[in-house]
Amino acid sequence: MSKTTNQPARRDSFASSFGVLVAMAGSAVGLGNLWRFPYLVGQNGGAAFILIYLGFVILAGLPVMLSEFVIGRRSQASARSAFQKLAPGSHWGITGILGVICCVCILAFYSVVGGWGTEYLYKAVCFDFTNGDAENLKTLFSTLSASVWRPLVGHTIFLAMTAGVVIAGVKNGIEKFSKVMMPLLFLIIIAIAIRSMTLPGSGPGVSYMFRPDWSKVTSQTFLAALGQAFFSLSLGSCMVVTYASYVKKEANIVSLCAQTAVADTAFAILAGCAIMPAVFAFGISPGEGPNLVFVTLPHIFSQMPLGGIIAIIFFLALLLAALTSSISILEVVVAFCIEEFKMKRKAAVALVFAVLWVLGCLCSLSFGPLSDFKIIGKTIFDFFDFVSADVLMLIGGMLAVLFVGWKLGKKVVVDELSNSGKLHIPGWLLNIILFLIRFVAPAALLAIAIFQIHE
Ligand code: TRP
Repeated sequence: MSKTTNQPARRDSFASSFGVLVAMAGSAVGLGNLWRFPYLVGQNGGAAFILIYLGFVILAGLPVMLSEFVIGRRSQASARSAFQKLAPGSHWGITGILGVICCVCILAFYSVVGGWGTEYLYKAVCFDFTNGDAENLKTLFSTLSASVWRPLVGHTIFLAMTAGVVIAGVKNGIEKFSKVMMPLLFLIIIAIAIRSMTLPGSGPGVSYMFRPDWSKVTSQTFLAALGQAFFSLSLGSCMVVTYASYVKKEANIVSLCAQTAVADTAFAILAGCAIMPAVFAFGISPGEGPNLVFVTLPHIFSQMPLGGIIAIIFFLALLLAALTSSISILEVVVAFCIEEFKMKRKAAVALVFAVLWVLGCLCSLSFGPLSDFKIIGKTIFDFFDFVSADVLMLIGGMLAVLFVGWKLGKKVVVDELSNSGKLHIPGWLLNIILFLIRFVAPAALLAIAIFQIHE
């Protein structure tokens, strides 16, 4: 593996293209795929939702991802300075700062859910679900999330594991971790999907995943699908900008982004195939909502042959998927502190850990003692979720496509996507990509924003 010579020595970088791919896919594949996607599919008409989701991945997700990648790789700098370097003297750096704020908001609540995942893995290992009836499991989850100490322990362990990987750096921490975990994750989810799809009575669940029911589709479905595409592909938050800044000049951006989107979507659909057939086989309604993973699934595991073991590997997968994502979110903030405040990596991780630990505690307590404390009518947890996923990510995505499509312009995009002409990317493909970046993605985002304000 060759060392990059054209970068300042202090900047870490990925060692191989496979490393970039698994790190990007690792960021994308997470709770969004295993927890959010299946319940959204369940609430929004199965395959109909999946088709709309795919449309948004191609029309809005990919252009935003490509734009962020161009910004990061061309500038070789973290969130704010990336924009500043490419547009000196402008105010575009604010986009980077919004991205950093967005990441802080996401990780605050993500770490709490990761903490529940840690707790559930522990319960699965203790075979706590083997005799669970539905009511007990519901109470178990609401009691856990509303209590004070246990979720805080989970949150602390989860955040500490995240920080442990990030402290080791890009090549030695993030890349090495993702290289082992991502293949393992795919193997696990494929195994569970096979188990689930071969359960007696799983047929209706399989057809639910693949036969669209358009009657469940409303304007909300479109909002949910776009939001999910952005959340799942980790867009609009400078995550891609930050990872791309560690990518060498010879990597093929178009193929890396396409592979990331394919891997993420494939994983989401596999997660659906792991969950929906089992849900139907046990006669449970698919529209259970956010409780699906923490209440419905343990209930199913308790009745399924080999369920105890499946529960362990499922919650292990959930934890690993959440970790490969949380490290990417933390890295955005850490890279920002290293570059803007000239901090050492260790000090930056310690600082960000401390801030996020406090915010995460507040999110966690908002299910219990702080449940009456509301900001714009939302609990602290919901507020962070709303500000990041519904507001900042969409604004960040919009600014990224506008910046690349209109401020950097065609020449820079073509130069970057083709590695200054060294890669042959067909002209028609470049034209389609440019059209998506300049017109389609901004229009889709604008339409959704107007929609959301009208709601
Ligand atoms: N994509 C991850 C998931 O599906 C979550 C995630 C990681 C994320 N990095 C992000 C979401 C940055 C938004 C922005 O779980």
